[in-house]
Amino acid sequence: MKRIQGWFPTFIYSDKLMRTRGAAFNRDLLQECLQLRDFDREGQAWSKKNYPGGFTSYGSMDKLHEFSSTFMELAERIDRHVAAYAKSLEWDFGGRRLAMTDCWVNIMPHRTAHSLHLHPNSVVSGTYYVATPPGCAGLKFEDPRLSKFMAAPPRMAKTRDENRMYVTYPARSGYVTLFESWLRHEVVANPVKTERISISFNYDWA
Ligand code: NI
Repeated sequence: MKRIQGWFPTFIYSDKLMRTRGAAFNRDLLQECLQLRDFDREGQAWSKKNYPGGFTSYGSMDKLHEFSSTFMELAERIDRHVAAYAKSLEWDFGGRRLAMTDCWVNIMPHRTAHSLHLHPNSVVSGTYYVATPPGCAGLKFEDPRLSKFMAAPPRMAKTRDENRMYVTYPARSGYVTLFESWLRHEVVANPVKTERISISFNYDWA
């Protein structure tokens, strides 16, 4: 062992969804996201109360991978990334597996935010980015040990990556980000005028 060695890390995964033909598939997804907002009245009402300024189908249509063939294809593609993530975490499923349980759309116009939260009753959660105008908000994660730090001194303004208390992953269209569902995260208010569109999902034991 090294004199000082890090233990108990938190892993976040980020990769391009597809190596080829990603742009065409993303266009199909974008079209369905916008159509969904237009016809999902229940979602519009839910968003008005719970997602000020924006639209999310989280409270109305949160199993899009079971209803739309495009979202079904998205789920199949994300499955592969989740498998790679699980492998790197050395999870032992004991003959069982993870499957997508929820999948919903988020449309964030200028100034819409999504405050700190985690995803209960899930194992892996993540987001696929559909439309990410330049300068739009990323996905900010916090150190899961933050509540245990008690009298621990604050960190220097510049630290090594592993000593950071927050990290923001930029939102990049065509990319998928995965994290363990207990990891708290947020999207700060979208600072740009153009809509930021993403698709979020949960995986749980199947
Ligand atoms: Ni989330």
